[in-house]
Amino acid sequence: MAKVEIKPDVFWVGGIDWDLRSFHGYSTRRGTTYNAYLIMDEKVVLVDTVKHYLFDEMAGRIKEIVDPSRIDYIVSNHVEMDHSGSLEKMQALAPNATILTSTMGEKGLLRHFRGLRLRPVKSGETLNIGKKTLMFYHIPMVHWPDSMVTYIPQDRLLLPNDAFGQHIASEERFDDQLDWGILREEAAKYYANIVMPYGDQVKAALGALSGLQMDMIAPSHGIIWRSRIPEILKEYTKWCNYDTEKKALIVYDTMWHSTEKMAHALREGLEQAGTVVAMRNLSVTDLSDIITDMQDSRMVLVGSPTLNNGMLPSMGAFLTYVRGLRPRKRIGFAFGSFGWGGQAMGDIENALRAMGWELPEKGVNVKFIPGQEELAALRAAGVRLGEHLRNSS
Ligand code: FEO
Repeated sequence: MAKVEIKPDVFWVGGIDWDLRSFHGYSTRRGTTYNAYLIMDEKVVLVDTVKHYLFDEMAGRIKEIVDPSRIDYIVSNHVEMDHSGSLEKMQALAPNATILTSTMGEKGLLRHFRGLRLRPVKSGETLNIGKKTLMFYHIPMVHWPDSMVTYIPQDRLLLPNDAFGQHIASEERFDDQLDWGILREEAAKYYANIVMPYGDQVKAALGALSGLQMDMIAPSHGIIWRSRIPEILKEYTKWCNYDTEKKALIVYDTMWHSTEKMAHALREGLEQAGTVVAMRNLSVTDLSDIITDMQDSRMVLVGSPTLNNGMLPSMGAFLTYVRGLRPRKRIGFAFGSFGWGGQAMGDIENALRAMGWELPEKGVNVKFIPGQEELAALRAAGVRLGEHLRNSS
């Protein structure tokens, strides 16, 4: 695929990672891109780079436009190596280039590389490059402390790095070339797994950027927004406020099908109360997909049998992941089965409580196999939980 001119004299020159299926544990079944942008003006500027193994692909696209040795500035909006992993090689190709980065970016890049020509820029600082101006705004924790965006007012173009990204590898570069359902799903999965812990910082960043006129948002992963900017801004506003729908998500694992039977009894009760329910069995569903479901679900019911005095390892991994992402404003419920001991249910309940979730019903723990009365009680609990969810605000 050749270079793409996204605005006059602004070119996409990134790399497409068609085969990526895991991004530090987050399943990326559609692959991803690392988007880099070349700006041709009196000064030549490259904004961000690509993962190290796609360096030749990016360099090839740059060479179609300009001799890389003519690059005057490389903007490093973010230290993480999916965007800065080619900086050292790029500096060798562009020996006169100065690398512009945030103050925290300078510190982070110095921990990864030696010998880069770095210049930190302050938030709000501008750089005239000819007909165009680059404006830099720090957006700490969206995704790392160093994160920064670059804005070009003459083009109404925002280059926000990780923000508004999605893991999609495709020939298409723009949002009107792909189905909105796919874009929304991948943008939601990206937000849930990468940005969710930083809702307050996202809110601050959206506020800081709200005064900018934008008719294109070109992130560092996936497609470029030009036709659906109001839609994606609306989704981000919802996500950073931890707004949810009145839906229930049942997450469980099972050993001899007792916890599974309990999960289905709860589902039946919830459905009886008119609740939309999704079931996710940890043994067959990836954690990153479950977190995406959780982003919209206000109620989360969590169940595991007891194994070796604790919960199943799959549930331990799930709760560790959830604790790291810190979804707020959720209603929880714990359940489980056991032969003896029975610690799993209480441990789950404690984990949900520790995250500040509301627990309107006491958890349920069943010895060995749930009988008809116990299943009926679980259905009744499901009905009560569904009613509680319906009345929640
Ligand atoms: Fe796409 Fe935080 O790097």
